[in-house]
Amino acid sequence: MLPIRDCVQQTPCYVPGEQPQTTDYIKLNTNENPYAPPDEIFNNLEEELKKVRLYPDPVSTKLRKAAGEVFGFSHEQVLAGNGSDDILNIALRTFVNPGENVAFLDPTYSLYETIAKVHGANIQTIATNTNFELDGPLICPEAKLIFVASPNPPLGKHLNRQYLKETCEQAAGIVLIDEAYVDFSDENHWEFIQQYDNVIVSRTMSKSYSLAGMRVGLGVSSRSIIEQMNKVRDSYNLDRIAQTLATNCFQFQDYFQSIWQKVRNTRNRLTESLINLDFLVCDSDANFVLASPQWIEASQLYTKLKERKVLVRYFKHPRISNYVRITVGTDAEIDRLLEVIEQLKNEG
Ligand SMILES: Cc1ncc(COP(=O)(O)O)c(C=O)c1O
Repeated sequence: MLPIRDCVQQTPCYVPGEQPQTTDYIKLNTNENPYAPPDEIFNNLEEELKKVRLYPDPVSTKLRKAAGEVFGFSHEQVLAGNGSDDILNIALRTFVNPGENVAFLDPTYSLYETIAKVHGANIQTIATNTNFELDGPLICPEAKLIFVASPNPPLGKHLNRQYLKETCEQAAGIVLIDEAYVDFSDENHWEFIQQYDNVIVSRTMSKSYSLAGMRVGLGVSSRSIIEQMNKVRDSYNLDRIAQTLATNCFQFQDYFQSIWQKVRNTRNRLTESLINLDFLVCDSDANFVLASPQWIEASQLYTKLKERKVLVRYFKHPRISNYVRITVGTDAEIDRLLEVIEQLKNEG
């Protein structure tokens, strides 16, 4: 018998959205940015490639300084991660002993459950109401760590700000606000870091900064929290290519802001068009929409779209089993999606 920890043995593998190995799909299933980063971010890549023999900067100094400048914090308040998933894991290992409680909403980003289970933590879930929203603050006095995503997937809406404030005020442990999708919305929670000494905000460069393939995430908090989390991360957790490209991206704020606006415009058009095609559509602050077709089972719609080379995401979770989640693509991609949906609807 292999000495596998019970909590690992009992945890199902996290299943991310498919990454097809062919390029003939319209890929609207994993919330990637449909627009490439600017070509200029690759300008100094050659230089970095020549240095692959050498380890990268262990503490991602340039990246943390660039991020700190854009976010309005000292680089000492910023931790760089191998994707924001790394930041979530580091927080778990910094603040929670196996056997202690981790809390999060249901439904939400399903990785919270996987990493908490693998860590051997006790899980406390708090159901959202029938609109997938909060009815009040998250009260979990036993929790050492609360993961809250705002905007919260799979709906994509910001959580009620006042309830989030009360959650931070009343929490006995750390509140990690996961802002993976925040750049596609009008608000963020930076001020919570100043107001409460138990808040971490995590950001990803996978969505708004078009760098999903590079795996770069950032955690922002007080100096003392970041100092502790820094001990827990892998010693070289970001490779030199990821550090270089991510640092460069922060120099192109105007470009990125323009593509965020494009995504928002397309999101609004997608929402309206889906309503006209007889879907229930949740209002979204993110780069995806959750939509329930009223004329076909969502699982069937997912399959039929896939047969026609359009990939969206379907979740077996009981509360959203009649929904598909659609990433906002380019206008041309969304036109094709809508065209295929219309054909399927007409076929009956
Ligand atoms: C809420 C949320 N947080 C974090 C992540 C992970 O982002 P990253 O690619 O930075 O690990 C995702 C990815 O889908 C997400 O939906």
